[in-house]
Amino acid sequence: TAEPLVLGIETSCDETGVGIVRGRTLLANVIASSMDEHARYGGVVPEVAARAHLEAIEPTLQAALAEAGVTLDELDAIAVTSGPGLAGALMVGIGAAKGLALATGKPLYGVNHLVGHVGADLLRPPAAVGTAAGSTAGTPAVSDDRGELELPTIALLVSGGHTSLLLVRDLIDDVELLGETIDDAAGEAFDKVARLLGLQYPGGPQIDRAAATGDPRAIRFPRGLTAPKDRERHRFDFSFSGLKTAVARTVEAARDRGDEVPTADVAASFREAVADVLITKALDACAEHGVPRLLLGGGVVANARIRGLAEERCAAAGVALRIPPLSLCTDNGAMIASVGAQLVAAGRAPSPLDFAADSTLPV
Ligand code: KG4
Ligand code: ZN
Repeated sequence: TAEPLVLGIETSCDETGVGIVRGRTLLANVIASSMDEHARYGGVVPEVAARAHLEAIEPTLQAALAEAGVTLDELDAIAVTSGPGLAGALMVGIGAAKGLALATGKPLYGVNHLVGHVGADLLRPPAAVGTAAGSTAGTPAVSDDRGELELPTIALLVSGGHTSLLLVRDLIDDVELLGETIDDAAGEAFDKVARLLGLQYPGGPQIDRAAATGDPRAIRFPRGLTAPKDRERHRFDFSFSGLKTAVARTVEAARDRGDEVPTADVAASFREAVADVLITKALDACAEHGVPRLLLGGGVVANARIRGLAEERCAAAGVALRIPPLSLCTDNGAMIASVGAQLVAAGRAPSPLDFAADSTLPV
C-alpha cells in the first residue's frame, strides 16, 4: 500500500509551520517565525504570536504545497497540533486545518505537540533529493545517517515553551510523561538570563556565544530539584527559577561593587548548570527505566554545551544518543505531519471536526 501523504500544521508557539510528508519521507517543511516581533518584549507575547500566525498561515501553506509539488487534492490527511501550547496560537492552526479538512473532505488528525517532537526523528529526506546540495531554499537538509529510531527511548524536549522528559514505548499508544518543568522552560531561562546580562532575544544563541570565552566553573550556580529532599517527589522534574534568581544576584552584586559584570563567566556557568541538570536527569531516567537510548528535541538542543555534555555522558553511560537535525528540532509542521502519517498508517480514526485547542493537553 502507498504511504500516506499528510500535511501538518503547527502553531503552538511563535513558529507558523506547515510540513508535508509521505509516510516517513520529508517533502516540505516551511516555517515562518514571529520571533523578531517578540524581541523587544524579551519573550513570546501570546497575542502577537496569534496575530502573526493569522497573517502567515496562508502563505506558509502555499509555500509548503509548492515545495512538495503536491496539491491539496492529493493529500490523504491533514494533521494539526491540538496542544499543548498558547491557546490563541493553537486556535489559528486548528481553525485553518478544519477549514482545509471541510473544504477538501480529507480526514483531520489532532496531534500532541510533544509527541510531534518525537515523530520528527522518523523523517528522512526523499532519496532523489539527498541532503543539503539538492534541497531548495526552504527545505532543510535532513541527514539520514542516524539509523532507525528504536523504542523504547527516553526523550528530553527542551524549548522556550516546554522542558519535558518522556518515556516513549510506542509513538501512538504509549508515551509517558516522566517529568517537566515546575516553573520556567529551559529556553525561557536562557532568554531571561540573557536579558539580565543585557544580551539580545532570543537569549540561547547569545549566551552560547558569550559562554565560549567564559569559565564554566567560575560560579557554582544551583542545580534545581537535585537536592536530596527533592529527589523523591521531583525526581524527573525541572526548575529554573532559582537558577535565574541566582544569576540576577550575581549580576546585581557585581554592579553594587562597581565591578564590571563578568558576562562570559556568568554565561558559561549558567549554561553549565542548565546542561548539567538536563543531562543528569535524562540519564537518570534512562538508568531507572533500563532504557539505553536518549532522544533530544526542541530549539534549546542548538546549545553547544548541552549537545557536548549529552555526547560525553551518553558515551560514558553506554546510552545511544539521537539528535535530529536542528530544522526538525525546533517547532515545525513536518513533525506533526509525521505523527499524522503514523496515525493514518495504523488505521486510526480521525479526530472529530469539533475538537478544541487544549493548551495543557497531556501526552
Ligand atoms: O523550539 P523553539 O524554536 O520554539 C519555541 O519554544 O518557541 O525554541 C526557542 C527557544 C528560545 O527560548 C531560545 O532562546 C532557545 O530555544 N535557544 C537556545 C539556543 N538556541 C535557541 N537555547 C540555548 N542555546 C541555544 N544555542
Ligand atoms: Zn516545541
